[in-house]
Amino acid sequence: RLPAPVSAAAAAAATASARAGPAEDRVSALSQVAGVLGSQWGDEGKGKLVDVLAPRFDIVARCQGGANAGHTIYNSEGKKFALHLVPSGILHEGTLCVVGNGAVIHVPGFFEEIDGLESNGVSCDGRILVSDRAHLLFDLHQVVDGLREAELENSFIGTTKRGIGPCYSSKVTRNGLRVCDLRNMDTFGDKLDVLFKDAASRFQGFEYRKNMLKQEVERYKRFAERLEPFIADTVHVLNESIQQKKKILVEGGQATMLDIDFGTYPFVTSSSPSAGGICTGLGIAPRVIGDLIGVKAYTSRVGSGPFPTELFGEEGDRLRKAGMEFGTTTGRPRRCGWLDIVALKYCCQINGFSSLNLTKLDVLSDLPEIKVGVSYNTTDGQKLQSFPGDLDTLEQVQVNYEVLPGWQSDISSVRSYNELPQAARLYVERIEELVGVPVHYIGVGPGRDALIYK
Ligand code: GTP
Repeated sequence: RLPAPVSAAAAAAATASARAGPAEDRVSALSQVAGVLGSQWGDEGKGKLVDVLAPRFDIVARCQGGANAGHTIYNSEGKKFALHLVPSGILHEGTLCVVGNGAVIHVPGFFEEIDGLESNGVSCDGRILVSDRAHLLFDLHQVVDGLREAELENSFIGTTKRGIGPCYSSKVTRNGLRVCDLRNMDTFGDKLDVLFKDAASRFQGFEYRKNMLKQEVERYKRFAERLEPFIADTVHVLNESIQQKKKILVEGGQATMLDIDFGTYPFVTSSSPSAGGICTGLGIAPRVIGDLIGVKAYTSRVGSGPFPTELFGEEGDRLRKAGMEFGTTTGRPRRCGWLDIVALKYCCQINGFSSLNLTKLDVLSDLPEIKVGVSYNTTDGQKLQSFPGDLDTLEQVQVNYEVLPGWQSDISSVRSYNELPQAARLYVERIEELVGVPVHYIGVGPGRDALIYK
């Protein structure tokens, strides 16, 4: 099923360019395929930017991860929506949402999310396509996630226990089940049985009963029927859409520092939340991807793993409270710290960001001074030339900071760059200078309108 040929998004974009202003100029200049990707450890507020940009795009697509992403967005009436697997474009009627082959789908959770949206007046009918190649995440993957974390004891990863890692493990071990397997219930049970047996042979705590398999197969027969209208060959749909000059916005989940290859391994997620994941997770060619956008005015992360600019005690609490840094998916308090330019530059290299979205600048408003981590020294005083891959080195780096003046005034109602206090502009411009990528969007609050176009 292809989206309607003349899209509401294209119409909205045409109306928007007729009343051009800084916002419209910025957004209409975005390439046919653009992406909003995390450039730190996640929770940068990608959901809000996707929600703001979505009306100018025909399609919003998720290319990786599963319900471990937690995008919080507010509609025009200020109503809060916490999305996990469904792309943030869903709040805009004319936008088609695609969950690509690189994502993993927990079908009951997916329906729960849809039911929640529908009961809040958001129609999902015919507006979400799920790739037939995406992998299925079963409850057993969630059980295994918990067992694995328990086994790791003190060196646990701090996963969301949503089964994402174990599901990607099944994918790579080549015994995973995909959405298209729901179309052949004759073989579905046997394939699922392999997964159950695999888990039981690996984990003592995994109790396997024949009855369990039967129940799960029956349950999935019902899900298969309900899911059928959502299932599509999204590789075909997306590539046809590109041919038809439709605009696609890719919504990243998690972030580059959590990338399975480039992140702080092993304290990472199991997919590729950086630019490469767009190609492998959607089946579109690298040459069609244009603008990519990342960031947040300071740094936060959930779970374990090194975090060089982390703030502890009162300072950390202050940032956490002001930024309401508690996970959307798990409610866990996030670790907070100063902006880390070394990590950010590394993310910019990997993703080739064309511009940055500096969210949550308002959170820093109370501080008398603001630090920025600009370089790392090793314990023997050597300056590191790049972000280290080896965690032992990373854990021991000494961060060199630049100290900038704070602005100590409320900026949450500011809507144009020039109205920001001078110290806030200095902070933004110093980041641009240090990273070498322009900041085009600045977040000054959680709401849709709390955005400055620079
Ligand atoms: P992940 O994919 O899980 O990494 O999530 P995300 O990057 O989409 O981040 P999330 O939606 O969880 O955003 C974090 C929080 O920041 C949410 O509660 C947003 O409403 C809020 N938020 C976004 N932008 C701003 C901003 O500019 N200022 C303030 N104060 N809050 C913001």
